[in-house]
This record gives sequence, C-alpha cells and structure tokens, in this order.
Amino acid sequence: MRDLAGRVAVVTGGASGIGRGMAESFAASAMRVVVADVEEPPLHETVGSIRADGGEAIAVTCDVSSWPSVEALRDACTDAYGPADVLCNNAGVAGRGGVAEASLNTWEWCLGVNLWGVIHACRAFLPAMIERGCGHVVNTASVLGHLCSPGIGPYNVSKYGVVALSETLHLEMQAECTGVGVTCLCPGLVATNILDSERNRPERLLDDAGRSSLNVFSNDDESETLAAVREMYKHAMDPSLVGDMVVEAIVADQFWLFTDGHFEEFIAQRHRGIEAGGAPASGRSIVETLLGGPLEQ
Ligand SMILES: NC(=O)c1ccc[n+]([C@@H]2O[C@H](COP(=O)([O-])OP(=O)(O)OC[C@H]3O[C@@H](n4cnc5c(N)ncnc54)[C@H](O)[C@@H]3O)[C@@H](O)[C@H]2O)c1
Repeated sequence: MRDLAGRVAVVTGGASGIGRGMAESFAASAMRVVVADVEEPPLHETVGSIRADGGEAIAVTCDVSSWPSVEALRDACTDAYGPADVLCNNAGVAGRGGVAEASLNTWEWCLGVNLWGVIHACRAFLPAMIERGCGHVVNTASVLGHLCSPGIGPYNVSKYGVVALSETLHLEMQAECTGVGVTCLCPGLVATNILDSERNRPERLLDDAGRSSLNVFSNDDESETLAAVREMYKHAMDPSLVGDMVVEAIVADQFWLFTDGHFEEFIAQRHRGIEAGGAPASGRSIVETLLGGPLEQ
C-alpha cells in the first residue's frame, strides 16, 4: 500500500505502548485512525492527544477477546470512516506461569486476548478487504513467537499462534491474489506497560495460580529480578520508533518485521537445532541472558 494518506487504520490495544506508537505514526501519515482498547481513560487520552496534534482519530472501547465486541468495532469503524484499509491486531497481555502450573484462567485470558483477539478481528475485517481487493493486516507477535522461555507458557503459545496465523494468512492472500498484505511484527524489548498487563485482567478470570520461579512478567512480586526486568524495559526501545517501522513495512509490503537484532542468534540457534533434529537447548533463558546473570528462584 504505497500511499497511506486518507486511508483508514484500526489499531487494537491502541491506548498504550506499541499500539499507541502505531496510532500516532498513522495519524502523522495523515491516516484516519480508529483507536480500540479495553482500557478507557488512556484510550480517550490517546485520541485527545492525536487530535490535539492535528490528527484524525476516534476512540472505540473494545475487548478483542469478545466476538460481539470486535464486530461492534468493525461497525463503528465503517460508520465513522468507512471500511478499514489497515488492521493492526496488537492488543496483548503477558500471561505467565509454567505449563504444569499456570491456571486455566490464565490460559483463557492470555489466549483470549493474544490469539482469539487476532482471530476475531481477521474474521471481522478481512472479508471487506478481500472484496475491495486491497488492505493490509499487521499482527503483533513477538520474538517469543520464535523462541520459548520457561515460565511464560501461555504467552509463548499465544505468540507462536500469531506467527502461524500470520504465515498462513499471507500464503492464502498470495494464493488468491487478494491484494491484501500481511506484516508479522515481532518486537524484541520495547518500553511499554506490558509488565503491568494484570491491570486489564477481567474479574471472572482472576487468580494467582500462574506463578512460577521464572515469573519475570508479573507485576505483583517486587523482587530483585523483577526490578531488574523493569529497569531493562525502561531503557528499551521507544514505541514511537516501532510505529514508524510499521508504517514503512506497510508501504513496502514487508512480511517479517523484527524491531531489533538482539534475538537473531537465539532464533538462528533454534533453527539449527531443528535441522539437526535435537531437542530445545537448555541453558540460560533469553531473559537471563539479557539481564546478564541467572535469575533468582
Ligand atoms: N513491550 C514489549 O517488549 C513487547 C515485545 C514483544 C511483543 N509485544 C506485544 O506488543 C503488543 C502491545 O503490547 P505493549 O508492549 O505495547 O503493552 P501495553 O500494555 O503498553 O499495551 C497493550 C494494550 O492492549 C490493551 N488490551 C489489553 N487487553 C485488551 C483486550 N482484551 N482488548 C483490547 N485491548 C486490550 C491494553 O489496555 C493496552 O492498551 C502485545 O501484543 C505484546 O504482546 C510487546
């Protein structure tokens, strides 16, 4: 999609972090932006700020894990601006816990937002894009859609799912010559509010059984390790840079978008291991390596 000016973009999880970065970059590219999020105060603040900067945006409250809510988002977009040209499936939460111990509620919450959210929005928005013969879908996966780390099973599974969905969608759109492009965004570390994801966990899915000794993504245990992880995130990439990268990827119709090279060698090692027929390598986790030492138990 070469010219973005005047086009309509929908960004889920657009009120914070990477989603907000995308919404702001789209508005700066003269797109009309539908900012969708479950958390209302930052949602309205984001849209207010985009408008104050001369951009065009509306706020839609949406829970991506709910099909009726995503259908309502599509209808709100169509009513306000017409059909979406760009869909960014970005809303996400950090579901933590080992595979043997994460609670069913944690699995349901994390997969509901991170994976079902993408499935719902693809189903809601893609038919109109295919019918019009143009559009672009950006799915926010993660480097953790290519690499596994102990203690964050639900998150890992959700992000591998988003990678698989994105690859499949790309192949389908190409095979059917639909004119719809796909970008699979795989951020490394970006300075956002992801460590405080629990703020958006619905009450019906609350519980604390998903703890693990490598509980690096929780926000309720102010341990030394967690403090180090928080510090690391503070100095991570600015989400506005990711927004600009996404704009470039859409214009260039680029499939893979990795935000930094920190994880390249880990991913290459995994691919070499698969080719050699070996089991996943044990050793220091990705987070341990980034922190430069072993995590406390
Ligand atoms: N920050 C990183 O280092 C990093 C790395 C890799 C991938 N990601 C991915 O980037 C995406 C954005 O996360 P972020 O880091 O900007 O975190 P963030 O917490 O700053 O933003 C996530 C947004 O999603 C919204 N959200 C949560 N549940 C929702 C729901 N049910 N429906 C609609 N919106 C909902 C939140 O309110 C928030 O505005 C996520 O998919 C995350 O997994 C982040």
